[in-house]
Amino acid sequence: MTTRLEGIRACVFDAYGTLFDFSSAVAREKARIGERAAALDALWRRKQLEYTWLRTLMHRYADFRTVTEAALRWCMAALAIEDEALVARLMRAYEELDPYPEVRTTLERLRAADLRTAILSNGTPAMLERAVAAAGLGGLLDAVWSVDAIRIYKPDPQVYERATRGLGLAAREIAFLSANPWDAHGAASFGLRAVWVNRTGQPREPLPGEPEAEVRDLAGLLPLLGLEP
Ligand code: LAC
Repeated sequence: MTTRLEGIRACVFDAYGTLFDFSSAVAREKARIGERAAALDALWRRKQLEYTWLRTLMHRYADFRTVTEAALRWCMAALAIEDEALVARLMRAYEELDPYPEVRTTLERLRAADLRTAILSNGTPAMLERAVAAAGLGGLLDAVWSVDAIRIYKPDPQVYERATRGLGLAAREIAFLSANPWDAHGAASFGLRAVWVNRTGQPREPLPGEPEAEVRDLAGLLPLLGLEP
């Protein structure tokens, strides 16, 4: 990796899949769900995102908690999992997802280098507040922004504009990290310095807005900024 991001003053993070491990919810209920656990995990995430995109196109916003539960219920029906108590258990687990192992040390390292840090997410303010508190990351973030304030989901450019407005910085001064490739492309298309956290070695998406760099996990950001890991 030879890329070097110059002139960055703040790092903004996507939440689900980037800081918090979406799959840790289903993993906690794996014994209860049985052999359909992996299918439920993958389908739930896919449907949740589809509903955000569709509702944005339909101009029929519902918050991320509502969309997440609706997606879960559809997926359980599709996979013939009949277990009403599981819905509540998984939704609770979703509010306290495990952070990825490198998150805390990376945020600490960025703050020690006087970089500002924030979350910009589809999650509701309450969901994000609980996830951040459960992971003990509160003291390491300057701000947590939810799309709920504007009632439009990523990758609408208005969402990414929240970061420039909130930080009072130009888009080129903000690194935006997401493990969701379409989110990284959306941020890059808006003008943020997008870094795709490609945890699973996926190929590049043929979408507008080229991420400036690709890393395997969040710690990969540090050398891009000239910081020691
Ligand atoms: C978020 C989803 C897209 O946190 O991961 O915004």
